[in-house]
Amino acid sequence: MTSLERASWLREEIARHNEAYFVDDAPLIPDGDYDALVRELRELELNHRELRSDDSVTGRVGARASLFAEVRHREPMLSLDNVFDGEELTQWLHRVARALGRESNELVYAVEPKIDGLALSITYRDGELVSGVTRGDGRVGEDVSANVRTIANIPARLESGAGLVEVRGEVFLAREDFEELNRRQRREGAKEFANPRNAAAGSLRQKNPAVSAARPLSFLAYQLIDGSGTYTSHLETLDQLGRWGFLTARETTREVGAPNVVARSSWFEERRHDFAYDIDGVVIKLDDLADRVRLGTTSRAPRWAIARKFPPEERMTRLVAIEVSIGRTGRATPFAVLEPVVVAGSTVSMATLHNQDQVAAKDVRVGDFVVVRKAGDVIPEVVRAVVEPGKRRGAVWRFPADCPQCHQPLERRVGESDTYCVNPACPAQLRQQIVHFASRSALDIEGLGEARVAQLLDVGLVQDVADLFTLRAEEIAALEGFGDLSASSLVDAINAAKSSPLRRVLIGLGVRHVGPVAARALAQHFLTYSAMAAAPLEELEAIDGVGSVIAQSVYEYCRDRDNVARLDRLRELGVALREPEASVAVEQTLAGRAVVVTGSIEGYTREGVDAAIAQRGGTSPGSVSKKTYCLVIGEAPGASKVARALELGVPRVGADQFSTLLVTGEWRAVLA
Ligand code: IVH
Repeated sequence: MTSLERASWLREEIARHNEAYFVDDAPLIPDGDYDALVRELRELELNHRELRSDDSVTGRVGARASLFAEVRHREPMLSLDNVFDGEELTQWLHRVARALGRESNELVYAVEPKIDGLALSITYRDGELVSGVTRGDGRVGEDVSANVRTIANIPARLESGAGLVEVRGEVFLAREDFEELNRRQRREGAKEFANPRNAAAGSLRQKNPAVSAARPLSFLAYQLIDGSGTYTSHLETLDQLGRWGFLTARETTREVGAPNVVARSSWFEERRHDFAYDIDGVVIKLDDLADRVRLGTTSRAPRWAIARKFPPEERMTRLVAIEVSIGRTGRATPFAVLEPVVVAGSTVSMATLHNQDQVAAKDVRVGDFVVVRKAGDVIPEVVRAVVEPGKRRGAVWRFPADCPQCHQPLERRVGESDTYCVNPACPAQLRQQIVHFASRSALDIEGLGEARVAQLLDVGLVQDVADLFTLRAEEIAALEGFGDLSASSLVDAINAAKSSPLRRVLIGLGVRHVGPVAARALAQHFLTYSAMAAAPLEELEAIDGVGSVIAQSVYEYCRDRDNVARLDRLRELGVALREPEASVAVEQTLAGRAVVVTGSIEGYTREGVDAAIAQRGGTSPGSVSKKTYCLVIGEAPGASKVARALELGVPRVGADQFSTLLVTGEWRAVLA
């Protein structure tokens, strides 16, 4: 693979994972692996000038805010800085004491569980709930008020809550409720959620509040923001929240002095799995609200609080077998079959081994004891084998020569770490292709998960994605596990998917290299599939966000005989294959304007900043000149850019105003 191809592949991978994480709330890989992809792309762009001008996708999560109205937080919703053990925590406690000019053994702290859900801000005016907003990028969140009103343990009214009161806390699913939800998803043939956090996020960000209402969401309050100056201590505000009827963490304690704080945080770590909900750490907060003001915040996090994060839990179990699964592109992924073991609160009986090289590097063999953990607390993986010296072991594992599903030879291309089944008729690939076609980032056909697709394939009702649109409720109702009602709602969902915008269909078809970004660019450029299929290669290549590798792949896809036949059928069966024009325009608020950015902006990667500006018609040159429209000053800005802007009289804007600048396109509006 050339660097150009690699960069293009990385961009699509990153975009795909952004979509999975932000839109589907279902990450496909651990955070660490995602970071590695971003790092690799950044390095490539750094070393190869020619790759830089390309439309880079890192950090661009455009679809994130589109479902809900954006709301600016009155006070930013910050994150927390982390420490990872008692020693680092002690150092932090001493730093706080020093900054306040006090002894560390006289300071009072609240030690609270860190709930692994998603942050929510709820506003009450004169005691009435008026809005619920997600954290978003910390400055601007999504208005999910309608869904928040359906959460049973959030009071709709506050007794004696005069004026403006803001309550912040965490939306989560209790472990039991999560298990029950997944049982229900399974029964209905819908996709199961990876963990309670993703399930909670997916449930809160539902377009339809009735769906949210059917999900057993809970809210735990951990912060009261009240401008009246009534309170002097954080623990006092927690008491008030409790009196209003909010759930607060029962285990929160008041601790004085560093040793007690550390001891209590270790107490939480030992009992982390005994809670009714997932916790991923402890939050330690200075109790005195006046001291908090004295310490202040950075642009990222308060100086008066810290999170002690727990290390990922590791467990030992026996490796029963190594098998290979075939994905929609034919990729053959080895995975470990394990003796079931409870890791981080759920039972694990399978874990990924990634690829051939990983199995070799870890040298895991059937019969070994292996260490298992959940990478990013989501996807189980085998860390290493625990080998007793002198003990006989099984044979070194060899990658199978043939596909376990269709028995055709597997292929590993030179220079790649992945192995593929290249038989286009492989039933395993077909199943995954259909599952992907129906998935949330593609046609979003509710109720068509893996189990149901397998069922439809088994009985021969479906042999290709196009066959989905020929299904009749009577034939589905006759299948095991279906009734008249579930059959007709599946057919309704399939019919509704016919009018999906072209970009989703393009994602669903699984054209090689075409992820969400390229799909959107193509759909917006051509508006119909026919126009795209008729386009010469040069036109495809010239589209922003496409590039030569993707262009070639699309060009070939549209000319493949099977694909031509498939698309003809989809069209005949009433699939729209067009992009609604309304979706095309992102308001070109910065058309023709050069916005220079220095330093980092919270919630954005460097590439994300450039992409956000470019999407609105602006440019983001690397230096300030007379033509610069304004300079956005982020965290750790470059002194020379700021000096140059001062010298030339170029307007300067704070990073916290970046979103407003994007929306209004005016620095005047921003400064006002
Ligand atoms: S305090 C400025 N308390 O952790 C103070 N946060 O990693 C910020 N979280 O965004 C929040 N439990 O979503 C606080 N007891 C707790 C928490 C908690 C969970 C989440 C919250 C925050 C994230 C930061």
